[in-house]
Amino acid sequence: MENAVKTIGVLTSGGDAPGMNAAIRAVVRSAVAKGIKVKGIRRGYAGLLNEEIEDMTSRSVSEIIQKGGTILYTARCEEFKTPEGQRLGAEICKKHGIDGLVVIGGDGSYKGAQALASLGINTVGVPGTIDLDIASTEYTIGFDTAVNTAMEAIDKIRDTSTSHERCSIIEVMGRNAGYIALWCGIANGAEDILLPERYDYNEQAIINHIIAKRKMGKSHHIIINAEGIGHSTSMARRIEAATGIETRASILGYMQRGGRPTCKDRVYASIMGAKAVDLLAEGKSNRVVCYKGGEFVDYDIHEALQMKKDIPEDQYRISKTL
Ligand code: ADP
Ligand code: F6P
Repeated sequence: MENAVKTIGVLTSGGDAPGMNAAIRAVVRSAVAKGIKVKGIRRGYAGLLNEEIEDMTSRSVSEIIQKGGTILYTARCEEFKTPEGQRLGAEICKKHGIDGLVVIGGDGSYKGAQALASLGINTVGVPGTIDLDIASTEYTIGFDTAVNTAMEAIDKIRDTSTSHERCSIIEVMGRNAGYIALWCGIANGAEDILLPERYDYNEQAIINHIIAKRKMGKSHHIIINAEGIGHSTSMARRIEAATGIETRASILGYMQRGGRPTCKDRVYASIMGAKAVDLLAEGKSNRVVCYKGGEFVDYDIHEALQMKKDIPEDQYRISKTL
């Protein structure tokens, strides 16, 4: 069957995530295998508007599957949110012969892809974010690596927390979503997990919990606090004052976005990148690649952006019991 597109562009947008390189590699090599040309667009939509576009071959993506970050660099671009920016982006794609585009990023990046699709560029989104906050998919590139990185860091903090018989508040990323916090909370056996989706801001209840656990002989108290709640340092000060127990805050920060991708992130990102190319080759546009119910599927971007998701109640309940 003849390919519906001749040249595919690929870009990464929004926050970087480990596994993005595996997705780029899969896009390039799957396209080349089908006889489709590939152009790499650096620095997301900002780079598109600046025409930072280069030809890519199978060799351009050698030695990257094991690397964190994104070889194409990434950026956020306010100009691309405007109709003028989007029109210019579509014109630049056409000027460079790009008739298909793979956008690796989150919901914000999908909105840019949707705008380009309406302007005649066939687009497919691939979910790239450590936050797992894309409603249309149960998997996002980078989440698995990020939670493993955070989990290992929290294990280390737990050692020192136990030795000093302290309370430790550890803040993890996730923007407004609590998925990283929930997973770390379960994986690290935290005493309290504060999620933006569930936290009732009843600090007295946490203080009572710490005191009760200390009376039961617990030598440490780990609180995983999601970035969406924040204020870990001031919370630590208040908890120490109220309990008399030394309390420290650690904000894990950008270490969660870096590092070698896990096996899962490499494999799933590779499958998703390849699937994006299949969709473009079939003439599909305005689609996003998703993982749902154990399968890789695709949805219309508009439909995907309308979807809602929440912390699974059973997982939250289990985290509280354990
Ligand atoms: P993510 O893709 O991870 O959700 P952002 O929300 O920061 O990250 O979006 C990344 C980029 O996608 C933005 O900097 C902008 O260039 C583009 N983008 C975001 N929202 C829109 C929008 N409504 N229309 C067009 N482009 C958008
Ligand atoms: O989306 C990934 C993420 O790391 C979020 O968890 C965090 O809120 C945000 O990006 C930080 O963005 P920036 O890199 O602009 O500081």
